[in-house]
Amino acid sequence: PAQALIFDLDGVLTDTAHTHYQAWKRLADEIGVPFDETVNLRLKGVDREASLAIILERATREYGAEERHTLAERKNGYYRAAIEQVGPQDLFPGVLALLDAARARGLKLGLASASKNAPALLRRLGIADRFDYVADAGAIARAKPNPEIFLSVARALGVAPQTCIGIEDAAAGIAAIRAAGMPAVGIGAPADLPGADAWLPAIAAFDLNAFVSR
Ligand code: BG6
Ligand code: MG
Repeated sequence: PAQALIFDLDGVLTDTAHTHYQAWKRLADEIGVPFDETVNLRLKGVDREASLAIILERATREYGAEERHTLAERKNGYYRAAIEQVGPQDLFPGVLALLDAARARGLKLGLASASKNAPALLRRLGIADRFDYVADAGAIARAKPNPEIFLSVARALGVAPQTCIGIEDAAAGIAAIRAAGMPAVGIGAPADLPGADAWLPAIAAFDLNAFVSR
């Protein structure tokens, strides 16, 4: 039986996948590099440096390491300014009810976000103390689709990976969950999230009874 739920954050519990997109879009426009929602699908779940590398594939010149660092910092500034406005009202519908219901059933709750801003965002959303363990994105050596972050959360929760359910809106995240040996629930369209065991249009549709037998 399932013993834990391990959630991604951006795009699963709140709409910050779009906030990340807007911050990257502003940066890309400023440096004159074409960037749109289709390219953005490849950025979901991907860490800051790798995201910038994908955007710069369409640049007309090379960017050195120092310049890339400055650009990544600039995007992060835009993102951090945007999430200053975030509050509990920005949780996707159904999140609090799901966390409560899962806890009532004795499930452990973990968070596996690649974002270094995850702890600050969780505090703003008012759900920082609802998780038994939040992965430290800065301490993860191998980014999604590598399973490291999901395995680190399972280990910290003290449960076997096969007894966890991973919930993700990113293709790289679904791949990471599957590589960790966990069932994967995709938030989004099946065509965008190959390999998931189930797909839901939004977290509000997550029915514990369907995924967790008593
Ligand atoms: C992931 C997002 O959760 O975090 C990505 O899906 C983002 O879009 C990544 O790039 C890293 O976030 P941050 O906040 O560390 O730049
Ligand atoms: Mg996500």
